[in-house]
Amino acid sequence: MEKRNVLVKNKKILQSSYIPEKLPHRNDKINEIVEIIAPSLNKDKPSNILIIGKTGTGKTAVMNYIGKELKKADPEEKNCSFIYINCEIVDTPYGILYNIANQIISDPSRRIPFTGWSLEKILSELTAYIEEADKIFIVVLDEIDRSFQKNGDDIFYYLTSINDQLKSSRVSIIGITNNTKFTELLSTRIKSRLGEEKIIFPPYNVNQLQDILYDRAKEAFDDGILAEGVIPYCAALSAQEMGDARRALDLLRMSADIAERNGDTSITEAHVKSAKSKIELDAVSEVIKTLTVQSKLVLMSVIKNTEQGMNTMITGDVYSTYKFLCEITGQSVITQRRVADLISELDMLGIVHARVKSFGRAGRTKEIELSTPKELISLVKSDELFKDIDNYKPPKQTTLI
Ligand SMILES: Nc1ncnc2c1ncn2[C@@H]1O[C@H](COP(=O)(O)OP(=O)(O)OP(=O)(O)O)[C@@H](O)[C@H]1O
Ligand SMILES: [Mg+2]
Repeated sequence: MEKRNVLVKNKKILQSSYIPEKLPHRNDKINEIVEIIAPSLNKDKPSNILIIGKTGTGKTAVMNYIGKELKKADPEEKNCSFIYINCEIVDTPYGILYNIANQIISDPSRRIPFTGWSLEKILSELTAYIEEADKIFIVVLDEIDRSFQKNGDDIFYYLTSINDQLKSSRVSIIGITNNTKFTELLSTRIKSRLGEEKIIFPPYNVNQLQDILYDRAKEAFDDGILAEGVIPYCAALSAQEMGDARRALDLLRMSADIAERNGDTSITEAHVKSAKSKIELDAVSEVIKTLTVQSKLVLMSVIKNTEQGMNTMITGDVYSTYKFLCEITGQSVITQRRVADLISELDMLGIVHARVKSFGRAGRTKEIELSTPKELISLVKSDELFKDIDNYKPPKQTTLI
């Protein structure tokens, strides 16, 4: 059997769920947060905190790191318990309260059922349990905007109403969001309560991303595996985009994967380039998979016209082929105006390219070109919707300008 080339000592280290021992360039943020929540170790209630920062700026990593440090300072959780909930996974008030309860209630006979209780009942059980525990609970609600989007600010009222009924215990909330406009969505009362302390995580610059990557690389690779320019290149590409450490680590991990798969003995900038295209291709292919049936029909019309030699086309050309495709796939036909809207949407997603063009007295129309990467056209064609399509040939288009 062919032996697979192994370049990465430990794959886990490059994955985004891995929390490193050190978080370079976040000491100031860690200290700011620790200063606010340290009183909990003496059973004093810390202020609520709202942490805001774009994706990949280390918010989740920092909070998990702090959770581990708190546990080290109070291993038996005598004065303070740290509870982490990701609202992207659990977003309903019931789900959040159930999750909090599940993490703190150890007595099996008092466990709260997964469904079936009223919110009032779950709240009063949880409140009683928290009060008996006689300590501070720090509840981290990560991606808090997800819960607000779907269920409004109820959960925040529930959690603060718990505090109103407590004498010896207290609940502090740390909300985390990557929506920089999040506070604009909140009512004034909640804004002031939730954002008692607000901490902003700025994007990383290119040097900071390099430091983060060098630290990980030291753990993940043996000497001599990474070519010199690889880390600066990954950092530069990610800094250009958003200053996103997740993206930088993804690039490094994928470059290593590609090099391993090719049987190469080191990782070079060429691998980073391929990794970059692969990430971009994956992103477009995700978008294509989630298109609606009507959008797929419109996209397929552009593809078919292009295959018939029409490199640029106008909305009317797309519409005629679209009607033909609706007929053979048995889908209902929408108006040309709606199809024009769908073309604009595909343009915004980067799948087609549409420019508004003036045709003198004939008015304005769009000039459309396919910009879907070649590798993905077969993905569109393999859709169940188009399984019989090659048995039909659309009528030849003639553009009338
Ligand atoms: N300062 C840092 N040092 C080392 N690794 C870091 C640092 N900041 C972020 N990372 C790593 O980058 C990745 C993304 O970070 P994290 O998940 O904390 O981002 P986030 O701000 O929570 O993003 P999102 O808003 O998308 O949830 C993780 O793998 C994390 O370990
Ligand atoms: Mg996060």
